Amino acid sequence: MIIAANLKANLTRAKTVEYLNELEKFLSAKNISQEVLVFPAVSSLNSHAGCAIVGAQNAYPTKNGAFTGEIGVEHLEEFGIKTILIGHSERRHVLGESQKLIAQKFDFFSKLGFKIVYCIGEPLEVRKSGNEKMMSYLDAQYEGIDTEYENLIIAYEPVWAIGTGLTPTLEEIEGLHEELKKKSFAPLLYGGSVKVTNVKEVLALNNVDGILVGSAALNVEDFCMMIESAQNLEK
Ligand code: PGA
Repeated sequence: MIIAANLKANLTRAKTVEYLNELEKFLSAKNISQEVLVFPAVSSLNSHAGCAIVGAQNAYPTKNGAFTGEIGVEHLEEFGIKTILIGHSERRHVLGESQKLIAQKFDFFSKLGFKIVYCIGEPLEVRKSGNEKMMSYLDAQYEGIDTEYENLIIAYEPVWAIGTGLTPTLEEIEGLHEELKKKSFAPLLYGGSVKVTNVKEVLALNNVDGILVGSAALNVEDFCMMIESAQNLEK
């Protein structure tokens, strides 16, 4: 399974080094065979040798250039980073990224062979407006995205479940994952308030190929426990 930590604007460079050291100790001590991804803040990116894969939370679709406040692929290449999150709900809803820009990023980084964790998810008012509207909202998030891209991982993260402690029911997650699997064969992660106490149930669901964890992954011991739950689950 794929177990990913989105560290967001948390953990400084020094703290990220400690985090990754602890994580690597755990991964080798327990002989973990799961795919583990970590997305540190941009200023905490560094070359990383180990079992975990370090990816970027964001980058601009350019090699370099006049894009104040952004980084380009050159900055990722310096550290051997070939994995990126695209379409996270905080970039869509807090930073105002349009589907057009998201699709441009997808196109740019897929052409470079990056592993892409592509996030989709609906806000609460959309969910409340009924299944049909919700599915067409999610459909629109596939616009301009090559769903057959070989290095694609999709993460379904309901916006209202991110960082709130709220989650859909297990039946709702399973039902939605079943629907989303019809759109792409890519591994499908669930994200949104996954934590040590609910990780086993979420991972056990049909069509859940892993998890993308924010808040609960900030504590490396907790993240390791979640990885261990995946390891222990025969799936
Ligand atoms: P959360 O965040 O686990 O804090 O809900 C998940 C995410 O934003 O990827």
